[in-house]
Formats: sequence, structure tokens, C-alpha cells
Amino acid sequence: MKPIRKAVFPVAGLGTRFLPATKAMPKEMLPVVDRPLIQHVVDEARQAGIEHFIFVTGRNKSVIEDHFDRQFELELTLSERGKRAELEVLARDLPGPGQTSFTRQQSPLGLGHAVWCARELIGNEPFALLLPDVLVQHKRGCLAQMIDAYNTLGDSANVIAVEEVSRDVVHMYGVVGVGKPKGNAFAITEMVEKPKRAEAPSNLIITGRYILQPEILDILTTQATGAGGEIQITDAMIALAKKQPFYGLKFEGRSFDCGSKIGFLSANVAYGLARDDIAPAFRAEIKNLLGEG
Ligand code: G1P
Repeated sequence: MKPIRKAVFPVAGLGTRFLPATKAMPKEMLPVVDRPLIQHVVDEARQAGIEHFIFVTGRNKSVIEDHFDRQFELELTLSERGKRAELEVLARDLPGPGQTSFTRQQSPLGLGHAVWCARELIGNEPFALLLPDVLVQHKRGCLAQMIDAYNTLGDSANVIAVEEVSRDVVHMYGVVGVGKPKGNAFAITEMVEKPKRAEAPSNLIITGRYILQPEILDILTTQATGAGGEIQITDAMIALAKKQPFYGLKFEGRSFDCGSKIGFLSANVAYGLARDDIAPAFRAEIKNLLGEG
């Protein structure tokens, strides 16, 4: 079984749903409590044992690269002021030297195209793909759960995190068809990107976490545009599923679609309430706001 060592983070999106907040700042840097979205997702990948972090960025995204580097002036000031706890947080969050790579998606041609832009960095090995719009809150992160499943599924397996949603929203996501169970996963029989409600094979949507075999990159080289006029990763997966098995995993934990305002605000509440240092005061303040204090 080839280990999953590399993870790809597509971070080139424009973040139009969060304007004007994202006019000069990448949406991936919006904080959920006191950590940028992208840091939460990188934390999930690190917990799963990922050793190399590949960011597909775009113009105006260079602060993401700065975020994953040391900040000597800040470190010096913190150390002169004896701020040990803050220094430890910065050191703990930083991937090691040589563990990050950055490449650019020059034009917004879709998620599949973004992944293809990372092909030279991925090379010929299976890899994880994590969409930073989605946060999954659970002690054992979603990707770690997926790798546990992957390790039981055989060498050419592709694994996708899925979750149940109301039929009313399936048209906003990739949707999978459900086949035979295998361990705690199941065989995927079909995949459709952004189907009409009546055409959706189930109410199980693709959550934004994938383990993919490198053959997907060859397919993406010639992948035509699909839903929304973009080169879709789902369409390339449909092609790969003719040759390799795809499995769905209903992960444990609560997901937040931080690409939407409600999802982002809910994530801030949920992650705030999960923090011992702020939860008591935060809970009291929420009750106050709701008129229940
Ligand atoms: C992407 C994928 C879709 C998936 C979704 C999860 O869509 O194409 O299959 O369900 O992420 O958030 P997007 O949100 O980029 O439109």
C-alpha cells in the first residue's frame, strides 16, 4: 500500500461571496476563531500524517505563502517581551523546511484544472486533496479517518468523503450513487457534479476531501469543461472510475461550508464553543445576544 504523503490545497479562488472582506485578503486567510481557514485544513492534513503541503495559489495570494513561513521580526519582538506561549503557537503551526510547495493556477478554469496545475509537484503517487472552504470538526480529522479506510481498501483505491444533506441543496454539490458496503466505506456507483434535484443519484454529497490515484492527472490533461463551464475534478473522477474503484466514506464529525456566510459564521461559533479558554464567556455572550441570558 503506497502511503499518502502529499496533500493539495487549491487556494486560487476569488472569494467573491465574501467581498469586500476578500478584496485585498485571500478568503483562505479569514479566521475561524484565531486561526485562518487554511491553517485549520493544514492542521487536519498534518494530523493525518501528510508530509508535503502543495498550495495551488493565484494572484493576490502571497500572504498564504508568508503565513507558512517564519516571521523573524515578530518572533524577535515576542521573545524580547517574554511571550513564550505565543512563540510556541507560531512554532507548532509551522510546517518544516521543504515541506511546502506553491504553484499558481494562472486562470480560473476550475477545480480539476487547479489540481492539474500541481501535477509536477504531486508526481506519480496517490495524494490527498482538501478544499479549504470546508471545515470538518472532529477529534480525529476527516482525512485521518479516510486514510484509515484507504489502508483497508487496496492499492488502486480512490476514497471520497461524503455526507447526507437535504435533497433541496444537492444541486450545489457533487453527488454520489451508493453501491455495496466495504468495511465502513461503500463502493461508489456513479458521480454527478451539480445535478438537478430529480437527477441526483442520492442525497450524499462530496464533502471536499479526496484521496486520489495519480492517474487522475493524465485524465485531467484532456478533460473537457463541465458544469459551470469549468474543468471539474468530478468529471475526471467519473472517467477514472471506469478503471479504478471509488469508495465513499461517511466520516464522523460536523462539516461547515465556509464558502457560505452562514457556514462560516456557524464554524466560528462551533469552534469557539469547543475552545476551553473562551467557551464559558462566549456561551454567556451568545445567550445574551439571543435574549436568553
Ligand atoms: C466542489 C466540488 C463538489 C463538492 C464541493 C464541496 O464544488 O466540485 O463536487 O461537492 O466542492 O464543497 P464547488 O464548491 O467548488 O462549487
